[in-house]
Amino acid sequence: MAKPRVFSGIQPTGELHLGNYLGAIQNWVEIQSQFENFFCVVDLHAITVPHKPEMLAIDTHTVAALYLACGIDLEHSNIFVQSHVPAHTELAWLLNCITPLNWLQDMVQFKEKAIKQGENVGAGLLNYPVLMAADILLYDTDKVPVGEDQKQHLELARDIAARLNYLFGKEEAPVLKLPEPLIRTEGARVMSLTDGTKKMSKSDPSDLSRINLLDPPDQIQHKVKRCKTDSVRGLTFDNPERPECDNLLTLYMLLLGKTKEEVTAECADMGWGQFKPLLTEALINTLKPIQDKYHEITSEQNYLESVLRRGREKAEAIANPTLTRVKAALGYSIPV
Ligand code: AMP
Ligand code: TRP
Repeated sequence: MAKPRVFSGIQPTGELHLGNYLGAIQNWVEIQSQFENFFCVVDLHAITVPHKPEMLAIDTHTVAALYLACGIDLEHSNIFVQSHVPAHTELAWLLNCITPLNWLQDMVQFKEKAIKQGENVGAGLLNYPVLMAADILLYDTDKVPVGEDQKQHLELARDIAARLNYLFGKEEAPVLKLPEPLIRTEGARVMSLTDGTKKMSKSDPSDLSRINLLDPPDQIQHKVKRCKTDSVRGLTFDNPERPECDNLLTLYMLLLGKTKEEVTAECADMGWGQFKPLLTEALINTLKPIQDKYHEITSEQNYLESVLRRGREKAEAIANPTLTRVKAALGYSIPV
């Protein structure tokens, strides 16, 4: 029997950080053998906010290489670039035409990003979740592993698929499959190192707010030294007055694969001076093998290109027939 299918993606905007790793990629790696996986570098999404053309291709390759370095295994998974498969843009257009405007205006991420952009809000930012729905629906995806922040976009993708099925499908033969989110409870929301109430993000102007996957050890040490803490002695989870404490303990727990009970017992009487070097060491030990592998992959001429070519071929073999199915349902003449 065929394995159920997984689709997920990350935008090539700036460097990948610990939130991307713990919230998304680590989860992909853990579950990949149970599924047939498509992991996409979503470069079309990357231009919904102002971008630097000279960096787009470079960042795209960096993200793809990091997928491999973090443990994505080509035996179970395909890695490809969104803009290499034109079906994504084409299905996005078709879906745009059946998506009510107010569904898009209600998206929390749109509202947040639109406020940040001020007057310079492109229509692409509003239509971003429709392209994301196209990404997912093209592959008849069963599960979409993402961080908590993407849950609303996933519900929208389901709503768009259900609407298309209702308007243009037959009850016994739906045109599109409804995908389900796969959100892990811990690590789904890694918070900023400089403000425990904000999520760690590529777009935070301060680099001190995040640990990037390619940060060298001395930089990691510096960032942990400078990270926000408090003056309370004894470290505890789940105290709403101490968001930084909860975040740093959670990171420590996830990096070392310990249980909450173990970390609670270990850190109950610790001060920050004792805890920070332990966290630094856990970060360096987790990231070092990823960085080594990354440098190995990027030093091999043409290897990444061949991975992406194979990924594109596998992706197109599934995406193109889905697109044809949708066009037929909408009444288009299909070229022979
Ligand atoms: P993005 O960086 O917005 O392209 O997000 C790529 C993936 O990483 C998505 O699955 C997000 O949900 C996840 N992600 C991004 N930031 C965080 C964070 N601070 N904590 C947990 N997951 C995150
Ligand atoms: N919007 C997602 C994010 O910022 C990235 C993304 C685009 C995505 N298309 C996707 C994630 C399809 C999962 C599935 O994190």
